[in-house]
Amino acid sequence: MSSTQNKSISCKAAVCWKIGELKIETIQVAPPKTGEVRVKVVATGVCHSDAFSNSPRDSAPLLPRILGHEGAGIVESVGEGVTNVKPGDHVLMTLLPQCDDCRICKSKGNYVCERVNGGFGSGFMPDGTSRFSCNGKSLYNFLGLSTFTEYTVVSKLKVFKLADNVPFDKVCLLACGVATGFGSATNAAGVQVGDNCAVWGLGAVGLAAVMGCRYAGAKRIIGIDIVCEKAEMGKVFGLTDFINPLELDRPIEEVIKEMTDGGLDYAFECCGNIKTLEASFKCIHQSFGTVIQVGLTPDGSTLNIDPSLFRAGRRWRGACYGGLKSMDDIPKLVDLYMSKSGVLLDEFVTHTMPLERIQEAFDLMEQGKSIRSVIIMAPQQEK
Ligand SMILES: NC(=O)c1ccc[n+]([C@@H]2O[C@H](COP(=O)([O-])OP(=O)(O)OC[C@H]3O[C@@H](n4cnc5c(N)ncnc54)[C@H](O)[C@@H]3O)[C@@H](O)[C@H]2O)c1
Ligand SMILES: [Zn+2]
Ligand SMILES: [Zn+2]
Repeated sequence: MSSTQNKSISCKAAVCWKIGELKIETIQVAPPKTGEVRVKVVATGVCHSDAFSNSPRDSAPLLPRILGHEGAGIVESVGEGVTNVKPGDHVLMTLLPQCDDCRICKSKGNYVCERVNGGFGSGFMPDGTSRFSCNGKSLYNFLGLSTFTEYTVVSKLKVFKLADNVPFDKVCLLACGVATGFGSATNAAGVQVGDNCAVWGLGAVGLAAVMGCRYAGAKRIIGIDIVCEKAEMGKVFGLTDFINPLELDRPIEEVIKEMTDGGLDYAFECCGNIKTLEASFKCIHQSFGTVIQVGLTPDGSTLNIDPSLFRAGRRWRGACYGGLKSMDDIPKLVDLYMSKSGVLLDEFVTHTMPLERIQEAFDLMEQGKSIRSVIIMAPQQEK
């Protein structure tokens, strides 16, 4: 039994008191309740969805809260009824839960588990309470994860055990970004050998979509980004062509239709920008093309698309976490990474830093200078 079991833990965290401001504070993390797991976070990626929720694009932020959702770490203690992991286990905390019991977990092709409540939107654990406080004030959690803290508490439906040799500072990217992009291609879209694909936005999510397209055997994989350096970065993940839309003197749909004999099989929108969403829709083949919407668009925004463009068969689908099931599919991606079989992770990590420098990670992302920054919270080898 650990010396901290059943006790509150005092630790460091980056607290978002107001939008755009992260402050390093000492917080209290209460013990896990029934069905919950307290994890010592070892490494966490910084995803654009953290930046989204730390900006005015999130119109109804729950404050104060602890952001972060790409975490891997070591189980410190577990509440009643937790059998899938035990103290000392190395674990990945996943974006979505998988309960295997709800209508959605039992369905095919769409996996935002109904138990997501208490995970998404609410800012609380499933029982409607918080495990975090700072100077006596309760803090909301983020997506039921909150990884910008040395300790966090998550539902048992969102953790699975890793082998001890899996590096925390790489695998954490499978908690969200890389799994989201990869799955968008392999699962949400179901890219087939010989398909023509394009990806708007070559951040970690977009580059992982490129990697997923390559894994699935796509013929042409066109990357579209306003930062030219992404062209070189993209080649590592399978990019065959690059377009900077700011350098074009004619509409992008003309260029892409010429390159792909009439239009794309799949367009992946990984910027969260309304204009690129609209552009991607015009670039897909009118009969069999599909847009996979991955990026988070600002709350309340609307699309300006002529409905007649759907008439011949164009399709549109949103995808959360790449249409992957957390407990069934993510361990397979870990295996593909460990066996060097088509899932790269090291190449996504362009920067690492301690929690105190977390603002740098947000700045680098905003400037398009990083693919992923990973915050190292604790020594990797610690057990
Ligand atoms: N659906 C999901 O489950 C899910 C999961 C994770 C992230 N996301 C969303 O996916 C998106 C990408 O996340 P990320 O972490 O890779 O972000 P990122 O900031 O690292 O990358 C975004 C990329 O888009 C490029 N870009 C920006 N504006 C552009 C434009 N007008 N045209 C072309 N390229 C442009 C940037 O240069 C950058 O390379 C975000 O909107 C994020 O919130 C969704
Ligand atoms: Zn479920
Ligand atoms: Zn994310």
